[in-house]
Amino acid sequence: MKPTLLIAPSLLASDWGRFNEEASAVINAGADWLHLDIMDGQFVPPITFGPGVLSSLKKKLNFFADVHLMIENPEQQLEAFVDAGANLITVHIEATKHIHRTINEIKRLGAKAGVALNPGTPLTQILPILGEVDLLLVMTVNPGWGGQKFIPSTLEKISEASEHLKRCGKKMFLEVDGGITETTAITATAAGANVLVAGSAIYGQSNYEDAIRKLRK
Ligand code: DX5
Ligand code: ZN
Repeated sequence: MKPTLLIAPSLLASDWGRFNEEASAVINAGADWLHLDIMDGQFVPPITFGPGVLSSLKKKLNFFADVHLMIENPEQQLEAFVDAGANLITVHIEATKHIHRTINEIKRLGAKAGVALNPGTPLTQILPILGEVDLLLVMTVNPGWGGQKFIPSTLEKISEASEHLKRCGKKMFLEVDGGITETTAITATAAGANVLVAGSAIYGQSNYEDAIRKLRK
């Protein structure tokens, strides 16, 4: 068991009619963060939910909200998500023209800032702003849907990012998202990931505590 490994269940795979119970269940089962997948029907085809859901959960539960914005022009929604209780907001480099400004705006509003890379985007694209972010999210599937298969070629990007951070002496969250199972959790953490997002591997099981424990192994 790695003490620094964080598990972030994704509400995307939960029962949407029972967000409060589903969120509360994984928090009680040992989740470190709660991952909220926000999709706008533009950056990715599906539409999920907005800051209202987060705000409602935050009124009832105590948790660290890891907000993953899969939306175009995320800079327009930052304030609404911070007001709703986001602790960390991750934006896609592919979705904003001014990533440096967007990252600094998240921090100015008082949240931690993350940057996400699609499987087809090279690490070199975010190197100029890596010093400014708290979290790097390496997508291990193409964003948009839960329950997809982990893309093995993304492992190289995780290792590359981890090596780069070691060389710079920078400690930060290196998160992976998509297709995380007991097996891919092992390879992704071996490559250097320290935050695992998991939707179906947790909400697809009947015992959430067992599912989270298995991912930590
Ligand atoms: C995909 C989302 C993921 C998704 C992961 O676009 O960003 O967070 O919920 O789902 P699983 O773990 O089922 O692949
Ligand atoms: Zn996500």
